[in-house]
Amino acid sequence: LVKVMENMQFTMGHIEGVSLPGFTCDAWDTIYNFQAREDDILISTYPKAGTTWMHEIMDLILQEGDIQKSMRAPCYVKVPFIEMVTPKPMPSGVELAEKMASPRIIKTHLPISLLPPSFLEKNVKVVYVARNAKDCMVSYYYFQKMNKGLPDPGTWENYFSTFLSGDVPWGSWFDHVLGWWKAVDKHQILFVFYEDMIKDPMCEIRKVMKFLGKDLSDEVLENIKYHTSFQAMKENPMANYTTLPKAIFDQTISPFMRKGIVGDWKTHFTVAQNIIFDEKYKKTMEGSGLNFRTEL
Ligand code: A3P
Repeated sequence: LVKVMENMQFTMGHIEGVSLPGFTCDAWDTIYNFQAREDDILISTYPKAGTTWMHEIMDLILQEGDIQKSMRAPCYVKVPFIEMVTPKPMPSGVELAEKMASPRIIKTHLPISLLPPSFLEKNVKVVYVARNAKDCMVSYYYFQKMNKGLPDPGTWENYFSTFLSGDVPWGSWFDHVLGWWKAVDKHQILFVFYEDMIKDPMCEIRKVMKFLGKDLSDEVLENIKYHTSFQAMKENPMANYTTLPKAIFDQTISPFMRKGIVGDWKTHFTVAQNIIFDEKYKKTMEGSGLNFRTEL
C-alpha cells in the first residue's frame, strides 16, 4: 500500500462547484446514493473543526466510557468517512459503513447541499461541529501540507486568498457553515462550537450525551472528558492517525494533533489580512444569527 501511495498522483475534481478529491468525484454516484439507517449518527464538520475530537466523544458515549472498546480500531476505521475513497486495498467509506453493525457513527465533511439525501430522509441524528474560520484556516493550511492526498497549500499568503475564495477541498467555509446552520430548525441537528468544547468540555459532552439519548453518570462523563483531552488523544495511536503511513499523512511536517487551541490565527494573520478577513466575514455572515468566538 505504501508503494501504491508513494506513486499515486492525487488530483482534485469538482462536484457542483465544490472541490473534492478526484477519487471521490469518480465514485460520486455510489456515495450520493448511500443508504443510511435510522439509527446512524452523523458527525458533520467543515475540515479541521474538531471532527476527530467529537467523534471520539460520541463513540465513548456509545461505549459508556469504556476506553478499551473505544480503542478497538483506528478512528478512520471505526468511524467511516462516507465520501472518502482510498486506493485499493483500503476500503472506501461506503464499503466500511455497509459492513458495519448498527449503531454506526459516520463522518462527513460534505456541505449539506451535497449530503447523500438518505441521511435526512431517514431523519438521522447529526452532530455538527463549527470552528471559527480563522483558526480553521490555519489548521487546514498545516493539514494540507502534511496530507499527501490534498493539494499543497503553497505559501501562507497564497493560502489565505485561496481559503477565502472557497477553492479549497470541500469548498467554502462560509457556504458550509451557513448551509448546515440553516438546516438546524428542520432536522435533528445538534450544532456545537469548537470554542465551547475548549472552554467547557463537560458541558458540551453532556449536551451530546442527551442528544444521543443516553444517561451516563458524572464519573463516566469525567472519564470521557479525560480520554478525549488533547493530550490523551495526542498520545492515543487509535486517535492520532499515526497508524497511517507517512506517504498519506506525513506527521514529521505537522502532527495531526497539532495545537488544539483557540486563537492560533493571531500568530499567522498579518494586520492587513485580518482587515480583509473581517470585511469578507461581515459581508457574508451578517444577519445569519451565528456568532463565533475567535479568542477566549
Ligand atoms: P489544530 O490544527 O488547530 O491543532 P479535524 O479532526 O476536524 O481534522 O480537526 C483537527 C483539529 O482539531 C486540529 O486543530 C487538532 O489539533 C484539533 N483537536 C483534535 N483533538 C482535539 C482535542 N481533544 N482537543 C482540542 N483540539 C483537538
